[in-house]
Amino acid sequence: MALETSCDETSAAWVEGLSIVSNVVSSQIDLHARTGGVVPEVAARAHVEAVLPVVQESLCGRSGADLDAICVTNRPGLLGALSVGVTAAKALAQAWRKPLVMVHHLEGHLLSPFAECPDLPLPHVCLLVSGGHTELILVEDLGRYRILGETRDDAAGEAFDKSARLLGFAYPGGRALSEAARSGDPKRYRLPVGLSGEETLDFSFSGLKTAVWRMVEKEQDQLNLADAAASIQAAIVGPLVEKAMRAVDETGVGALTVAGGVAANGALRSALQAECERRSVAFVPAPLALCTDNAAMIGLAGSFRFALGERASFDEDCFATAELTQGAR
Ligand code: KG4
Ligand code: ZN
Repeated sequence: MALETSCDETSAAWVEGLSIVSNVVSSQIDLHARTGGVVPEVAARAHVEAVLPVVQESLCGRSGADLDAICVTNRPGLLGALSVGVTAAKALAQAWRKPLVMVHHLEGHLLSPFAECPDLPLPHVCLLVSGGHTELILVEDLGRYRILGETRDDAAGEAFDKSARLLGFAYPGGRALSEAARSGDPKRYRLPVGLSGEETLDFSFSGLKTAVWRMVEKEQDQLNLADAAASIQAAIVGPLVEKAMRAVDETGVGALTVAGGVAANGALRSALQAECERRSVAFVPAPLALCTDNAAMIGLAGSFRFALGERASFDEDCFATAELTQGAR
């Protein structure tokens, strides 16, 4: 069984190896839409209320006696939120006398494409794009990761959400913006594309939100929402695709994956698919249900860690920040 409470989704899953039996996600999005973002204490309290019902539902009639281990995200994330999942996991592990496995949230995202393709070739490059992270990672083997590039400021999901807010969409906004972009002209508004054309595999999205703010101020009620959304989406997706393909070319790997909340973006998925086809490189996006935060991906990563013999102590803590490569194999 796996638990995930690192940000604003309370989730529990039952996973058998790479097979996902259940994956229950209770989202707090409506709660945080009122404040336009996640208030950590509010998130933690909502996790407390949701965690046991979510666990109960994920069992699908099974009992604690049927499981091998309890896996839980303990890093990185909001400390109050993480501690709800970790405390619940410890209590269940004590009650059921089962071992605990602590999982790095990003390793969950990183391994989620394996649910789509168990034979995913190694090494491969993963473009990990979420509300808190934007990284290009070389997956040399399970547990052996190398960061090739990362954002120098805002994450891609943050760029989507902050721009969406300026256009008047409710939090988190990324998905609504991408839907509005469907009928828009991406060339209508000129927006900066951070670090494009440069050697580095890093990203930068902080200039975009200032430019979007200026665009909104200048155009006022003349602003064409669909065209603005399409132009913003192009300014985010463009460098993601450019750098991901550069990473594939430079490392010579035979496969690219994309994972994290922003991996649900249709324009990003189809642009990466087309570029991979051109190079005869396999493209394996995370399944849509596993893009945004969920416990099934934590179960996938936890199963692999459990098989390696990893067991966590009941004294193990949670951490707001943690390198992906820390505690790696
Ligand atoms: O992985 P995730 O649930 O949370 C983090 O670990 O950060 O990612 C959430 C992010 C939000 O920024 C949300 O706006 C974005 O993923 N997102 C999208 C789409 N669906 C979710 N961004 C662009 N297009 C989408 N379709
Ligand atoms: Zn996440």
